[in-house]
Amino acid sequence: MFKNAKWITAGKDFKETLPSFQKKFAPKDEIKKATAYMTAFGVYDFFIDGKKVGNKIMAPGWTYYTKWIQYQEYDITDLLGAENTLSVTLAPGWAAGFIGWQRHKEENYPGPYGISTSSLVAVFEIEYADGTQETFTTDESWDIYTTHTLYCEIYDGQRVDYTKEIRYVGKALVTEQPVPSLLPQKGEDIVERETVLPVKLIHTPKGETVIDFGQNLAGYVEFKVKGNPGDVVAFSYGEVLDKDGNFYNANYRTAINETTYILDGQEHVCKPSLTFQGFRYVRVDSFPGEVDLNDFCAKVIYSDMKRTGHFSCGFDKLNQLYSNIVWGMRSNYIDVPTDCPQRDERLGWTGDAQVFCRTATLNYDVENFFRKWLYDMTQNQNEEGGIYGVIPTFYYMASISTAWADAACVCPWEIYRAYGSKDILETCYPMMKKWLEYMHRYGDDEFLWVGHKNHYGDWLAMDAGPDYYLGATQLDLIASAYFYYSTGLTIKTGKVLGEDTTELEALQANIRKAFREAFMENGMPKLYMKGDALEENHTGNRIRPVKPVTQTAISLILHFGLYEEEERQALVDKLVELIEEFDGRMNTGFVGTPLILRVLSDNGRADVAFNLLLQEKNPSWLFSVNQGATTMWEHWNSQKEDGSFWSTNMNSFNHYAYGAVYDWMFGDMVGLTVSEDGVGYEKITYKPHTDKRIGFAQASLDTRQGMLAASWKYLPDDTIRYELTLPETTTAVVTIPGLPERTLTGGSYVFYSKA
Ligand code: BGC
Repeated sequence: MFKNAKWITAGKDFKETLPSFQKKFAPKDEIKKATAYMTAFGVYDFFIDGKKVGNKIMAPGWTYYTKWIQYQEYDITDLLGAENTLSVTLAPGWAAGFIGWQRHKEENYPGPYGISTSSLVAVFEIEYADGTQETFTTDESWDIYTTHTLYCEIYDGQRVDYTKEIRYVGKALVTEQPVPSLLPQKGEDIVERETVLPVKLIHTPKGETVIDFGQNLAGYVEFKVKGNPGDVVAFSYGEVLDKDGNFYNANYRTAINETTYILDGQEHVCKPSLTFQGFRYVRVDSFPGEVDLNDFCAKVIYSDMKRTGHFSCGFDKLNQLYSNIVWGMRSNYIDVPTDCPQRDERLGWTGDAQVFCRTATLNYDVENFFRKWLYDMTQNQNEEGGIYGVIPTFYYMASISTAWADAACVCPWEIYRAYGSKDILETCYPMMKKWLEYMHRYGDDEFLWVGHKNHYGDWLAMDAGPDYYLGATQLDLIASAYFYYSTGLTIKTGKVLGEDTTELEALQANIRKAFREAFMENGMPKLYMKGDALEENHTGNRIRPVKPVTQTAISLILHFGLYEEEERQALVDKLVELIEEFDGRMNTGFVGTPLILRVLSDNGRADVAFNLLLQEKNPSWLFSVNQGATTMWEHWNSQKEDGSFWSTNMNSFNHYAYGAVYDWMFGDMVGLTVSEDGVGYEKITYKPHTDKRIGFAQASLDTRQGMLAASWKYLPDDTIRYELTLPETTTAVVTIPGLPERTLTGGSYVFYSKA
């Protein structure tokens, strides 16, 4: 369809404003149907006669632009009149903008994909009532005009000047840059979803005026304003206040996040476009007259996924935690599963995505979202089978780490479990096998993944000491355990697809044997590296003490099945002992935290799991809730009790990874888990775990079979009342303490048991 269309650009020297590409169009006759197909190397807004077409934001989204770009389709039949101006505003976006923390601001900045000039391509197909057709495309006949937007970058915000006169620049230039594949949009559109109203106007000790939206979020501020020509409105964005109550955003690192408007005497309703900010607090750096909160709101943007899951319980702080998890997801499912929405990253970190993936399926319908991202992953895989730390990757983001790269196996499997999406397994199976080959070939020992120094390890765990990025768990142990786990997932995938998995099964058995020899001694994890037990990875500052027996090491061994049955109890006891030694707390990071509660409840220690869930001393989930968090924090200690910060460098207040705990709350506390032999919730297990301190807990999920819901509640006489609602086509194996196991299908059921 795009074959004869030309990519047009304003050229790399055009820096005056964002360009608007325009074309006049007068239909020859009555229109039956008119469709526009469009995409950009950059991000665009499409208008007809000055009115935005559709509700897509930041189209065409973010893909590995070197290989492919999604195009969008617009039905414009009802939008066309006798005379029309088609116009498209183009910003650098993810393709040609300042992305990543190594972005350079010099003239010759190459852009993340080696091209720093944005460009646009479009095809218009008109079907007339008389049966004739007309097609036209972007080409050198399009005109370029200036706009009011002087500057627009995803990380840095926007500068708008309403006083600037719009002028004709000249004809569009046709660019000959290499053209990647153009594919119809696979993912969800990014759109505006919730509107959040400000809660407070703060005057800080430093004398700043700050609007508090009461909720950390990703999106932008919309406001009404009228000022004299030349008056300036300027905002800065932050997630938290510092310990003195002043505005703070040093944690945004090099991302500037400012929006500025120069007024022209008219009233305007302003909001940024083609950029977004991550914030709760907005510092008003300049404003004509008084700020009236009634004129402000925040628009929350993310991928247009259907909300499917809900949770509530009798313990308020857990309800706040759940809200923080959902807001963490909203803020980071912006076409790509990103780590955070505010600083100079906002990247599709694979590790964060894989640990959170199952939780995501329990709150929103993320099938399409992952269909697109996982396809992108297949396009990003390198020749050797390596999967990068971020997807879509770009030129300097080429690190490969265990537990991050394993997203290649974990995410397809989780999406298949939740929705039964076999096509995703088909798309990903070759990638999964190639990823296993990468680990298989690596180093001297074919059945271990050892000696690789670029791992992120048990990222941000607290067991090596409070100030290390990597926790104390051995990198080689994590890597080899994940090698084993990913092999298992690939075997399961192969079986679903009817493939011969004999070789993979042999590989899996060999990895298990090698792992046990290398990392286990007398049923406990042992040190693999000789020497002083200090491990270094690619950056010297990550040298830190390494311990063989950590909460994360044991959790991995138990969860991935790398133990012998006779070793199990001692491992569980040791894990409980490590938690007790650490004052009843966990000290796990990105790798251990998503597993530890499950490992405990799977092994008869749900009591300890509940203690960790309800723990309020740091590190714990509820610590951040007590500190006033409205989203998940990146680090357990992001803001300490005294209001100081653990670091400026790695300190996002909107990082969903630790929100993976909802997987346990839904799966083990409320007790609903989809079975691998009944994907898409055709079969589930219902095995609730209760704790009187919580009083009651309930959750629901709109599954492919229909609405699934369960709850439990302590009654005054300490009886527990359980309720389970199954869609007609769902079968559940029900295990409730004190009651006989049974299998039930479709309908609502109530059970009672004694606490
Ligand atoms: C990101 C993480 C990511 C990590 C890799 C960080 O800068 O924000 O969430 O997974 O790097 O260790």
